[in-house]
Amino acid sequence: MCGIVGYAGPQTPSTTSLDVLLEGLARLEYRGYDSAGVALVTPRGLASAKRAGKLERLREALAENPLPEGTVGIGHTRWATHGRPTDENAHPHLSADGQVAVIHNGIIENFHALREELLGEGVTFLSETDTEVAAHLLGRALAKVGDLTEAMRAVVARLKGAFTLLAVEAGSPDRVVGARRNSPLVVGLGDGENFLGSDVAAFISRTNRALELGQDQIVTITADSVEVTGFDGEPVVPHEYTVDWDASAAVKGGYPTFMQKEIHEQPKAVSDTLLGRLDDQGRLELDELRLDTAVLRRIKKIIVVACGTAAYAGHVAKYAIEHWCRIPVEVELAHEFRYRDPVVNEQTLVVAVSQSGETMDTLQAIRHAKDQGSKVLAIVNTHGSTIAREADAVLYTHAGPEVAVASTKAFLAQITAAYLLGLYLAQLRGNKYTDEVAGYLEELAQLPTKIQQVLDRAGEVREVARSMSDARAVLFLGRHVGYPVALEGALKLKELAYIHAEGFAAGELKHGPIALVEEGTPVFVIVPTRRRPELHAKVVSNIQEVRARGARTLVIAEEGDEAVTAFADVVFRIPETPTLMAPLLTVVPLQIFACELAAAKGLDVDQPRNLAKSVTVE
Ligand code: G6P
Repeated sequence: MCGIVGYAGPQTPSTTSLDVLLEGLARLEYRGYDSAGVALVTPRGLASAKRAGKLERLREALAENPLPEGTVGIGHTRWATHGRPTDENAHPHLSADGQVAVIHNGIIENFHALREELLGEGVTFLSETDTEVAAHLLGRALAKVGDLTEAMRAVVARLKGAFTLLAVEAGSPDRVVGARRNSPLVVGLGDGENFLGSDVAAFISRTNRALELGQDQIVTITADSVEVTGFDGEPVVPHEYTVDWDASAAVKGGYPTFMQKEIHEQPKAVSDTLLGRLDDQGRLELDELRLDTAVLRRIKKIIVVACGTAAYAGHVAKYAIEHWCRIPVEVELAHEFRYRDPVVNEQTLVVAVSQSGETMDTLQAIRHAKDQGSKVLAIVNTHGSTIAREADAVLYTHAGPEVAVASTKAFLAQITAAYLLGLYLAQLRGNKYTDEVAGYLEELAQLPTKIQQVLDRAGEVREVARSMSDARAVLFLGRHVGYPVALEGALKLKELAYIHAEGFAAGELKHGPIALVEEGTPVFVIVPTRRRPELHAKVVSNIQEVRARGARTLVIAEEGDEAVTAFADVVFRIPETPTLMAPLLTVVPLQIFACELAAAKGLDVDQPRNLAKSVTVE
């Protein structure tokens, strides 16, 4: 949610501060793309430019009206919260005297009271944003204390809510000052240059050395120094780490879109997440888990908290973990969990699932859970993210950077990691013998090859999707683990193709949803394996029920399942696989379908309207 970049470094004829900022913004654009803007400190004072729309609009504006060269600078790409996506509301915002430029990610909750106060003192506002309040406060504080870092300290003391702020000022051509509370900010350590970014993508093409900033910290960077203090002014020594993916992982690699690339990276996302999890006795070992095994043995209940696609990964995991471990598992949307007084205690393990590790709803849910005494384990894709740091234990998915806003490979990696957790608990608590766990791990190990087989048939799905670009509504049915897959299939279609789509538990069909079916309504049906005849037969009946009412049935069934052929208008085949492993295969045609249908409609698959990849506001 909003991408932020700050730069302090030397000017060379080949690379200017502006180039570095624009490159950082291009990599952060997945966090929001309602508007973009930059501010530079130049010998003639502050220079800034901003435009509504994607970064391309800003580049065009800069080509028409170039900025003078500057030393340090800040850049912003916006996901609108306060105020529409207009040029005026785009960041940076300037103080009344034009001496300070500010960019912001988050929400300043008390902005209304502060704005009233400033209006009362005669300040004129040029935007509808909460950010402009911070710009004016900072300008006024700077006029009093004369130092940007000190001014920032004075201002953050007055702000409530979640924010990352970066500021530059005309009189300090060598520095960028940042502050963070409940919103992400990392420092990149370069060779004679330093960076600030919402995440490491902002500077990964120039350095892989990064510093973690904690909550309520202020950082001042120059080309050759980084100083961090708490909001209270106490110096802090931050933890340095090396980023383990490189810039090439975040470029499209020959695919037309990031989403297509990421869909095709799914075999690797699953195999990398499985990698290195066995000890030399062949027992499952999750080294990164920092939780005492005694605590894990005592757990009486698991609650998975997550949002969006990550929550559907949690739904899938519930079936497996309950089956393997005999521990009750609840799955709850993080924002609902947070505000409904859930029953949790020290015998509850709260599992937070999040690709970014920055989703504010999920972060607030785990804070609430910790306050109630429960242990929190995070399944996260992004190293050093806030959720990873605040959880008691982390199990990393190794999906690599996911750039397309709608999640694909992270979903498969999340299911894989949650399954590893389930099997680990089953082994630890004695629900399964080591050889049984090994059997399940063997099934998981076969999945990358099977996913590849599904991908090899992408052409069939593409053809059907491209013929359906005028579909107005699509239904998705699934039973057992096929149910969350149906929900995810519908979500993908909504997100990418802007088509009304609903996922239902197939058994629920006759209790209402069947009323939606009319002549020609496309209905996807995810058919369980024939190894579970009781599930399989019921879903085959459901296909007949919707077909009898005029539906066009698009069926996902395993190879050799001929029971479906008579009732399916289209069949997408997946390799045979045990029930619990099937979601990692059945979801793939649904992802490809949504992606191809959106492409056929000429939509931006990587950056769908109104969305942001990392939702860092509640
Ligand atoms: C946003 C994204 C979704 C994602 C959800 C949770 O809504 O658009 O694709 O599933 O956030 O994100 P997380 O980073 O916590 O997995």
